[in-house]
Amino acid sequence: MMLLDGKIASQAVKESLKTTVHQLLMDGKPAPHLAAILVGTNGASETYVASKVKNCEEIGFRSSLIRMEESIEEALLLDKIYELNNDAAIDGILVQLPLPKHISEAKVIEAINPAKDVDGFHPISVGKLVQGLETFIPATPYGIMLMLEHFNIETKGKHAVVIGRSNIVGRPMSILLSSNLKHGNCTVTLCHSHTPNLKEICLQGDIIIAALGRPEFVKADMVKEGAVVIDVGITRVEDPTAKKGFRIKGDVAFDEVSTKASAITPVPGGVGLMTIAGLLKNTLQAYGLKAEGLGQKA
Ligand code: GUN
Repeated sequence: MMLLDGKIASQAVKESLKTTVHQLLMDGKPAPHLAAILVGTNGASETYVASKVKNCEEIGFRSSLIRMEESIEEALLLDKIYELNNDAAIDGILVQLPLPKHISEAKVIEAINPAKDVDGFHPISVGKLVQGLETFIPATPYGIMLMLEHFNIETKGKHAVVIGRSNIVGRPMSILLSSNLKHGNCTVTLCHSHTPNLKEICLQGDIIIAALGRPEFVKADMVKEGAVVIDVGITRVEDPTAKKGFRIKGDVAFDEVSTKASAITPVPGGVGLMTIAGLLKNTLQAYGLKAEGLGQKA
């Protein structure tokens, strides 16, 4: 069994980005600049945004963290986005999701200038992805594609089973894996909460992407011998014995599934780190440099 170690794969991406930034600075150019907006104090969102900002710093990107109160009016958040859209010093903008209930996520996403949409959530970005045009790929599916590339996982002609149809992971993942890309060309089944016989479908999967957000949902009896298993889950599960009072659990029962899989991602230390790598690559792309690797036709 091969461990698809996100630390190793993300480090490789970050090293390459670091070199690029170094060269930009040597040429007297500014470093790419990411603006992240965090509304409220959701614990998980705080952690993710802090990690995004820290990773920017590590590779020499500039970053601005903009915090807003949970009770902020939608109009004020939209004004902030317009301001960042018009700020030539900002290359990429992300608004951490989820947002408080009184704010329309759709409106917020559509307010972002598509040229700065490093999350790839804007309808224009999604439309381009569907049509196989160059665009920003949402960071988590992008990170998974980078991981498949790093560990040279063959995907052509394989049956990929994606569990979960979110706009952030499942749906864009299904599009990428079915696209004519070096690590695409799969036959894809996209499963969701209304899929009957999920177990039978999973058992047909050469590649399983678990992105439904239910801790340890995928068990060994749902996985074909030799399958590649990618775990996108990062649920906080209460555990009084843990220092922080919770543990992070993936969507895959790692101990039992790893005995059947030919390759598997750990949680933590797998897809989460690759998401950051995807975001950093998108930020460089927004800055004006073409991302390498993806977009390559097979
Ligand atoms: N919430 C969960 N994942 C993401 C992500 O990739 N981007 C943003 N902006 N919010 C998220």
